[in-house]
Amino acid sequence: MNEDEFLNQVFEKVHSYLDNTGAIVEFIDQSSLRRTSDLKLPLEGLGLEKVLSDLDYYLSKCVNTAHPGFMNPFWGGLNSAAFVGEIIASLTNTSMYTFELAPLATLIEQALIKRMSELVGYPDGNGTLTTGGSNGNMLGMMCGRYRADPLGQRRGFDGTKLAVYVSEESHYSVMMSANVLGIGFDNVIKIPCDADGRMRSEKLQEEIDRSRREGFTPVCVVATSGTTVRGAFDPIKKIADICSAEDIWLHVDAAWGGSCLFSSNHRSLMEGIELADSVCWDAHKMMGIPMICSAFLIKDPKILRKICSHTNIGHYLFQDEAENVDLGRTSLQCGRRNDALKLFFAWREIGDAGWAKIVDDYMDLAAYFEKQIISHPNLELASSRQWTNLCLRYTNTEVDLDQLNTEVRKRIMRRGKFMISKSTLNGQTILRPVISNPMVSRASLDELIGEINSTADDIIRGIPQR
Ligand SMILES: Cc1ncc(COP(=O)(O)O)c(C=O)c1O
Repeated sequence: MNEDEFLNQVFEKVHSYLDNTGAIVEFIDQSSLRRTSDLKLPLEGLGLEKVLSDLDYYLSKCVNTAHPGFMNPFWGGLNSAAFVGEIIASLTNTSMYTFELAPLATLIEQALIKRMSELVGYPDGNGTLTTGGSNGNMLGMMCGRYRADPLGQRRGFDGTKLAVYVSEESHYSVMMSANVLGIGFDNVIKIPCDADGRMRSEKLQEEIDRSRREGFTPVCVVATSGTTVRGAFDPIKKIADICSAEDIWLHVDAAWGGSCLFSSNHRSLMEGIELADSVCWDAHKMMGIPMICSAFLIKDPKILRKICSHTNIGHYLFQDEAENVDLGRTSLQCGRRNDALKLFFAWREIGDAGWAKIVDDYMDLAAYFEKQIISHPNLELASSRQWTNLCLRYTNTEVDLDQLNTEVRKRIMRRGKFMISKSTLNGQTILRPVISNPMVSRASLDELIGEINSTADDIIRGIPQR
């Protein structure tokens, strides 16, 4: 088989995959999947025909993230323009470190970073595309550490007396970053939240005072815009006032909630964001760009260059004349994928207005869903809603509700019509669907409510999994 025939057949398969209206995934447990899948790496190659049949098999076992019942993580659906950007990025296979190797791609990434910085409120800001919000949070904390101790970069850090502050509902990547940066889990101070899951700023002040008394140097506050479980938005303005008075770096984890900045109706959720020193924002979440596409944005571009310094030993790569456009000088990576093109194509297709409509539509759907939950006799909203996360529980029974809701989710997942997440809130097991998939509609939300109810009913009546 020649390459042309091969690629034609691949694109036919892509089309039929997109037309797939079957289950989200055929549930197979790990050991069965391992046993029944051919994972051998052959000594002699098997040819492109084999790759085609491997492709069929792979697609048949994938989770269909563009299914209308896919409401588990923070993304879903297929953005065609971005999909093409992804393919072309592979086709042209460059690396983003130098202008020389990625001329137009460099300018495209710069244009995206500039526009996203403007939306945040950093007219002179800069940034970089990263491997995700986790990495963006680490960069933010690294900037804070640099500002608190600029010489540490050369000398090394003793992080045991550095402190970072986050809400108790923040993402786990802050803990991982504390490990990577030598700050340590114990020096990440968890600030209590209010009843709606927002960081309590007066508690932040108390904790900063306490750590100073104990001889710690506060290096960074990480506020969250769109927490993972509840979708809560920390009060940035109040937190920024404290950080400014205390001279502490303020990083905002807007990996999930950053897209609200497009919408005049919902932008106020991040009021005060221009006061933060840095922000991360995932375009691979609500904006539906294929994984990975994530921006780290910074108000003072000098600091990003400083923390990405490599002591100038990459002389074979970086040519002096391109110093200001070589993106490798503002990234922690050396080789780096072109994640800009897919976002650029998608943005060109729909513009700011298109992004705003996506946010508004998802928020309208979330409001509709919330109303249906509140008015349903068997369901309870487990937390107030700020974003498109819905925290709910089936409650109308005497049986153990944690066990029941856990079993409801398990059965729903196995049936393959819906995929939703489960979490713990205030010590209770909750179900947490999110709306971040263009295929979700009022009809699919109604159907989900029906599915939760009928599944709970089966469990209560002792009927086995259907
Ligand atoms: C609030 C928040 N921050 C950061 C992240 C990590 O983002 P990424 O998966 O892009 O590393 C997540 C992931 O869901 C998140 O919910």
